[in-house]
Amino acid sequence: MYSKRKVSIPVTELEQAFFCRLDDNLRSKTLEEEFKSGVKWQKIPTRYLKMKPQEIEDEIIRLKSVLGTKLFILGHHYQREEVIKFADVTGDSFKLSVEASKVRQADYVVFCGVHFMAETADILTSPEQKVILPNLSAGCSMADMAPFDDVEDAWNFVSKELDGLIAPITYMNSSAAIKALCGENDGIVCTSSNARKAFQKFLDKGKKIFFFPDQHLGRNTAISLGINESQTKVWNPFKINGGLSHNDIRNSKVLLWQGHCSVHTRFTKDQVLDAKSDKNAKVVVHPECTNDVVREADYVGSTEYIIDIVSNSDSGSVWGIGTEINLVKRLAMNNPDKDIFCLDPIVCPCATMYRIHPAYLLWVLDGLAAGLVINQVSVKESTILNAKVALERMLEL
Ligand code: 13P
Ligand code: SF4
Repeated sequence: MYSKRKVSIPVTELEQAFFCRLDDNLRSKTLEEEFKSGVKWQKIPTRYLKMKPQEIEDEIIRLKSVLGTKLFILGHHYQREEVIKFADVTGDSFKLSVEASKVRQADYVVFCGVHFMAETADILTSPEQKVILPNLSAGCSMADMAPFDDVEDAWNFVSKELDGLIAPITYMNSSAAIKALCGENDGIVCTSSNARKAFQKFLDKGKKIFFFPDQHLGRNTAISLGINESQTKVWNPFKINGGLSHNDIRNSKVLLWQGHCSVHTRFTKDQVLDAKSDKNAKVVVHPECTNDVVREADYVGSTEYIIDIVSNSDSGSVWGIGTEINLVKRLAMNNPDKDIFCLDPIVCPCATMYRIHPAYLLWVLDGLAAGLVINQVSVKESTILNAKVALERMLEL
C-alpha cells in the first residue's frame, strides 16, 4: 500500500478566491493594504508595510544601480507590472531556466516567480551563485498537490507493477525532489513548451509514462500525440493505489497525477465559443487548461508562445486569451493596435505569483546592498545531482 498520509488541499487554492474580482485594476497597493485581504504571506520588517509604490520604485532603481552586475533579476510573465519592469530577462519557465543556466557573472540571481522556478535556477546556476526568492511563501498550488512522499510511493508501486516499462516525467511545476526522482529513474523534466518532445522521447522507446503533477497538461499532450483518452488514467493521491486497478495500470499508456492549476482550470469551453462567435476572435490558451477548452481553441502553448503568436499577428486582429491576467493585460498594453481580452470576465491573478509584491523585492535588494542574503533558495546537494540530470535531459530535447 503506497499511501502513508492524507494529501491536503493547498492553502493557495483557497487564497486564490480572495483575488478574483470583476474590475481589472491590477495596480499594486501598499503591502499594508494588500495584507488586509487576509493573506498569510512571509513576514517582512514593518518599515516596508506603509511604503508607497513610487517610494518603492525609486529605491529599487537606486539599489539596482548600486548592485550593478553582481545582481541579475529573472521575471516570469505572470509577475505584476510593478515587479516585472525590473527584470533583466523575462520569460516562460523554460526560457528562464535556460537564462539561469547562462548567467555566470552575477553573484545574486533574484527570481521574481514562484518557488519551484527559484529551485530550478539554484540547480542550474553555479554553486557560488545565490538564488533569492523575494517572498518565500510564493509557491505554486499545483506543485503543492504533489508532495514528494506521495509521488515516491506512487512511483515505486507503479514501476514495480510494470516491471520498469514506464518513465517518470515531471512538469517543471514540481519540487526539486520530484525532479531528482525523475533524474534517478531515467526520466525527465518538461515545461509546457516541450512536453510533446519529452513524451515522444519515451513513447518512441515503447515506454509508458507517469506524469506529475498537472493532469491537464499531461492529457492535452497525450491527446496531441494520438493517445486516446481511454489510454490515460488519473492517479488519485487521495485513494489507495491511486484508485486504479491492476488492469487500469497495465492497459494505460499514460498515468496522470491528479493535480491542476486553479488559474487555468477556470476557463471554459463556452468562453472560447463565445469569444469566437460574439467577437470573431482567435483564441489562444495555455495547455494547463482542460481538454474541452484546448480542443476548441485555435492555438495552444506556453506563455512565451502566447506572446509570440499574438505579438506577431496582424494589426487589427482580435484575440481571446486563456492565461493569467497580468500577462493578458501586458499583451494588450504592448499591442494597442489589436483587441486583446481575457476569456474569463472574472479576473483572477495567480495568487502565488502575486505574492511577489514590489516591497518584497526591495527588502531583498536592501539586504544584498547591506551584505545580507535574505530568502536564499538552496536545494540540497544530493537532490541537485539527480534533478540536474533530469533538467539537462530537458535542455537537450
Ligand atoms: P510557462 O511554462 O508557460 O511559463 O507556465 C508556467 C506556469 O506556471 C503556468 O501556469
Ligand atoms: Fe502554479 Fe497555476 Fe500559478 Fe502557474 S498559474 S504558478 S501553475 S498556480
